[in-house]
Amino acid sequence: MRPLRAIPLPSLISVLLGALLAILLAPQPAAARDRIVVGGHPVDAATHPWVVALASRDRFGDSRSGQFCGGALVGVRTVITAAHCLSTEVLGVKHGEVDDLRAISGRGDLGTREGREMPVSKVWINPGFDPESNAGDIAVLTLADAMPEGATAAMAGSGDAAYAAGTAAEVFGWGDTSGAGKYASGLRSAQVKMLKDSACAKAYPAGTHGSSGGAFESRSMVCAGVAAGGRDACQGDSGGPLVAGGRVVGLVSWGAGCGEEGRPGVYTRVSAMAELVRAHSG
Ligand code: ARG
Repeated sequence: MRPLRAIPLPSLISVLLGALLAILLAPQPAAARDRIVVGGHPVDAATHPWVVALASRDRFGDSRSGQFCGGALVGVRTVITAAHCLSTEVLGVKHGEVDDLRAISGRGDLGTREGREMPVSKVWINPGFDPESNAGDIAVLTLADAMPEGATAAMAGSGDAAYAAGTAAEVFGWGDTSGAGKYASGLRSAQVKMLKDSACAKAYPAGTHGSSGGAFESRSMVCAGVAAGGRDACQGDSGGPLVAGGRVVGLVSWGAGCGEEGRPGVYTRVSAMAELVRAHSG
């Protein structure tokens, strides 16, 4: 074969370098820069064993361990998650037809087998869950095997001071980090703040069901986020824990977009559900 001599090598290199520089120096669109949805940083799954991934390889494939939602280990055999995670809309079939539902704890990278994978032996979905408004968005899963007591997290009770607006909170998940379907393979968390009910009531008034997926009601929901946006939960994080004051205060439920200014995250208010959870554990 004849050597390629049409383009002299040095000028080819300078053209390529120039192009690379142009790409690197171009201003990034705000969307890509600011909406690092679970706002930001990787966390060590091994030291957060109470953050679990809900998974079904049958339904969602092998590559990310079949992860499709999050959950919180609140008892040695009890995981709480969002009711909507077990809906036919999410699973594609009725939850009773999913034979390989698992809760995965301690898996930093969904592409690996690290941590523990536990079969779910019982599913209880809050009969009060309203898929129209997303009110009462909680389900209780019973695990086939017990996890160590030290792997569990406490649920917030009614009157818990951590619900006060302005309290620092952290949300965990393996969900979308971009708002555009870029799913994480590692566990991440974002720092947010507990917000006043009125912040979500204003962002999501009743009668606007549809695009945003719900209407805020403070009895079973709680509002969290950051005023400027940029840090939030997103698709795939649902059911995962919002932690404040060392207790699970919320579960990722819904929101309009992800990390948008004036569109906080809406979470299931765990304190309002704690009695139901206890009644349906084990
Ligand atoms: N419904 C989403 C899920 O199923 C969670 C959306 C949370 N959105 C938000 N902006 N906080 O994963």
